[in-house]
Amino acid sequence: MAVRTQTLKELDPRTIKRDFPIFTRTVHGKPLIYLDNAATSQRPQSVIDAVTRYYQSYNANVHRAVHTLSHEASVAYEDAHKKAARFVNARSWKEIVFTRNATEAINLVAYAWGLKNLQAGDEVLVTIMEHHSDIVPWFRLRELKQVAVGFLDVTDEGRLKLDELPRLLTKRTKLVGLVYASNALGTINSVAEVIEAAKRVGAVTLLDAAQAAPHIPIDVQALRCDFLAISGHKMLGPTGIGFLYGRRELLETMDPFLYGGDMISTVTTESVTFNELPWKFEAGTPNISGGIGLGVAMDYLCALGLENVYAHEQKLLEYALNKLLQIDNLEIYGPKETQDRLAVISFNLRGVHPHDVAGILDEAGIAVRSGHHCAQPLMKRLEIENTARASFYIYNSEEDVDALVDALKTAQKLFA
Ligand code: ALA
Repeated sequence: MAVRTQTLKELDPRTIKRDFPIFTRTVHGKPLIYLDNAATSQRPQSVIDAVTRYYQSYNANVHRAVHTLSHEASVAYEDAHKKAARFVNARSWKEIVFTRNATEAINLVAYAWGLKNLQAGDEVLVTIMEHHSDIVPWFRLRELKQVAVGFLDVTDEGRLKLDELPRLLTKRTKLVGLVYASNALGTINSVAEVIEAAKRVGAVTLLDAAQAAPHIPIDVQALRCDFLAISGHKMLGPTGIGFLYGRRELLETMDPFLYGGDMISTVTTESVTFNELPWKFEAGTPNISGGIGLGVAMDYLCALGLENVYAHEQKLLEYALNKLLQIDNLEIYGPKETQDRLAVISFNLRGVHPHDVAGILDEAGIAVRSGHHCAQPLMKRLEIENTARASFYIYNSEEDVDALVDALKTAQKLFA
């Protein structure tokens, strides 16, 4: 990924850490070292305060009343959509639909776009690197509409086999779904190349940016994707809030996803007309506090600068890979070069189950995830079942890497 180095500002993780109240706690008597950011990040005080402030000061439903509280809540909720639009450089905030998470955003596309536009014999092409959230909804479409679901393979190193694209993309391909950065391996995919190839056969493109958006700048206009899905909880926001970016022309022609209150314009006993974008896709009382909190999370990230976030994590990644590669019998998955990958490191200690590794790390106050990372087809492709995974963020430092390395050496001794 190209980053403009001349404008970079170095981040200080120790200062950043002070914004996150969770780091005042200990785990098993040790200071918390949080390396499970790909599962969910921590939240700064400003996000926690924004959620609390909503409930304490202007709690009311949105778009429902003329009273002051409802007006304030509606403005704040709409402002959060505007922040999301700026965050991904959408042309208009009307292209931003708040959802529970990236999973729901992808389901929205599958149901609201897929049910209407896909026919038996059409094909959806995804990659073997996808999170289950960009595979399982298409399997549902396979049942409902008899569409085929194809997979682009990866190399043993966890890079997409882009040379197979010309063979896989045909005039039957109607949608290409692609993870921007792998939550399991950290690989940052050449999404622009895939999007351009998909466009040549007239396919609609959907990017799962749940893992990428917290760590690298996203520009949907430069990418020229049709849809992009984001989860708030991996990027400092509350849980239960995320969003879908959709190109306006597509959103306009799609049917709603969920039906009920607020997504309508008029309802009679005979018929219904639907609300304007984006509310047509936000049925029922939304996660108002979550949306406002996510807006503040994006403020926080933008103040740091996503390019600085990426540069900070690149340095940590290089430091961590150098140290981890020196540990005997430790296998690291995904590309070994730091370029084009995130600081998400999946590994196994030979002979030790990753859950046991994670348990020993926990004793040292270090949180990592172990398991299949919601990417079972990828695990199968790499001929493994599980990995341990250390995933870094803005508040992590080289000392955290050192603690991880020490605890892994302890685990190795214990299981020798
Ligand atoms: N998708 C999340 C992860 O990678 C939950 O852990």
